[in-house]
Amino acid sequence: FGRSLIIEDELPSTNAKAKELAREGGIHGQVIIARTQCSGRGRMQREWQSPKGGLWMSIIIRPNLSLANASKLTLAASVAVVDALKELYRLPVGIKWPNDLIYNGHKIAGILGEVVGEWNRVQTLILGIGINANFPRENLGSSIAAATLQEILGHEVDLNKLTAAILLHLEKQVSALEADMFEELCINWTARAVGIGEEVKVIRGEEVFRGIFRGISQEGELLLETDHGEVRFSAGEVRLRSK
Ligand code: BTN
Repeated sequence: FGRSLIIEDELPSTNAKAKELAREGGIHGQVIIARTQCSGRGRMQREWQSPKGGLWMSIIIRPNLSLANASKLTLAASVAVVDALKELYRLPVGIKWPNDLIYNGHKIAGILGEVVGEWNRVQTLILGIGINANFPRENLGSSIAAATLQEILGHEVDLNKLTAAILLHLEKQVSALEADMFEELCINWTARAVGIGEEVKVIRGEEVFRGIFRGISQEGELLLETDHGEVRFSAGEVRLRSK
């Protein structure tokens, strides 16, 4: 991945740019990075603050065969980013379902997988990765419980090295998915997840469900054991007990 790499000072959103390039035939592994985004997007159409100093990147994925949906890809990306942060900074980061990266209860990164559709009969997905890296959290200007690598580590990080490490881990994870190793991905994801076996709340639209977080299904759905039996979620928001 990243053999073809575009870096812009500013884009509305690297995911939007990646979609555009994908529709024009952008290759598997094409990477788009912006120093800042003026209309970065998070899950559920939320705004994603993208100040200078962060790592805002999207990757075009045209998988071989079995990787059919974006949720598997985002799970794989979460694992890849956790592994890169561990390798480079020994930082113990957890994954909050589906793909928020959490350090000490604070979000330091988010991942947005989107399906573009087919191009020349090859399924295409866009993977957007946003990491709060070299800036103080005040620059996010919002009240969400966020943290940045610079604050946690006490120094700035080398964004090129971070990018390279993430792309390497991601390539490994995507190849494993292409080889149908989804069970392994589930195990790896679960080993890095926070809140498994604990009482959590899951918010889906206006509804709130309470239960024990039992893990994820082969499709990446959250499995919640409630008083009325097991409920599966493919979208929603998890609140941990400690929050
Ligand atoms: C989330 O946690 O809600 C997902 C956040 C994803 C943010 C990244 S930053 C690069 C890419 N471009 C976007 O507009 N969004 C993703």
